[in-house]
Amino acid sequence: MANNSNLGAAKAAKNDEFYTQYADIQKEINAYLEYNPDTFRDKTVLLPCDDPEWSNFTRFFAQNFERLGLKRLISTSYAVESKKYKDYEPTLFETESPFFDIDKTRIKGKIFELTRDANDSGRIDIDDLEWHYLEGDGDFRSPEVCKLRDESDIIVTNPPFSLFREFLLWMVEADKKFLIIGNMNAVTYKEVFPLIKTNRLWIGATGFMSDMVFGVPQGALVAPADKAKAEKLGYVGDFTRLGNSCWFTNLDHGRRHEPLNLMTMKDNLRYSRHKEIREKGYLKYDNYNAIEVPYTDAIPSDYDGVMGVPISFLGKYCPEQFEIVEFRKGEDGKDLVYSIQTDRQTDRQTDRQTDRNKIVTPYFRILVRQRLFRG
Ligand SMILES: C[S@@+](CC[C@H](N)C(=O)[O-])C[C@H]1O[C@@H](n2cnc3c(N)ncnc32)[C@H](O)[C@@H]1O
Repeated sequence: MANNSNLGAAKAAKNDEFYTQYADIQKEINAYLEYNPDTFRDKTVLLPCDDPEWSNFTRFFAQNFERLGLKRLISTSYAVESKKYKDYEPTLFETESPFFDIDKTRIKGKIFELTRDANDSGRIDIDDLEWHYLEGDGDFRSPEVCKLRDESDIIVTNPPFSLFREFLLWMVEADKKFLIIGNMNAVTYKEVFPLIKTNRLWIGATGFMSDMVFGVPQGALVAPADKAKAEKLGYVGDFTRLGNSCWFTNLDHGRRHEPLNLMTMKDNLRYSRHKEIREKGYLKYDNYNAIEVPYTDAIPSDYDGVMGVPISFLGKYCPEQFEIVEFRKGEDGKDLVYSIQTDRQTDRQTDRQTDRNKIVTPYFRILVRQRLFRG
């Protein structure tokens, strides 16, 4: 019989131990370079919460150090004894290094740095990484990693999912540029939405609303359906796939400046690909002066008022086209609701008709309005 505590540990590990794929990092970074080739030029990039010996973040930034024009690359890892998942063997890279220390390997974090052509090969690349143990365990909240944060210009990583909120605020309070992976539902956190509303945080350029594949520790539990989806995308072995992960950033990219192409309300009512829009039209909320628009592509181009749209709208949000007004709540401070008539009853004696309504609370809505009409 499977040992329950092992299964529990593997499940817990699943929360934090997800390893990002090289192709996903490359695709995302290329989008920033397309928009501004100097996004990373002369910058110090910090990759915290990493495992530099096998991390694709470290590999990508080290291999592209010269192309990106980096000044300094720093990558830090978290000690295995501090992790929830403790199944670990030091790599040959570490054990064969003159810095290897059997007493430190499990309890200290590590720092890898790249600034120069250390091996005189004529180019700066992954083989020039220099490393040592940190004083502490590499916790991103420790004074030494906070110091590295303060020295850096841009922070890039896939932080532990269980500490996403804290990690985001850790970067925002230091006023850093960043690019991180998180769960799309994070936009519903009360600390996150104000940043989105004030254009201090937005969704990255790629991978939104599509499957992202992650490596997991050897033998970790993965739901068979996720394993199968990862395999379909070409990742066979210890991989999983998440359909709701996305990049969060405050680095500018071109996609967010492309306005949505929309139809007028009249055309939507006739030709929308959503039957619901064609049949029911746009319903008004009971507790806010706005219309319910359940699909981003059904936003009417000529509507001047406030509209409630799903959170997936943020993947298409162009700040020149839309203004974000409010999140989720009506004027009564409660979740937005609208009513739909379910049936109409007629009193036989008086002929009076009464409607019976069903109150609907749609899943998290964002209230937006088009800037076009605001001058
Ligand atoms: C989602 S994984 C991503 C790893 C790597 N950045 C990648 O994408 O391949 C997050 C990593 O952060 C580590 N971690 C957990 N808590 C941490 C903390 N407080 N400080 C630093 N790292 C932490 C986890 O052990 C895990 O290795």
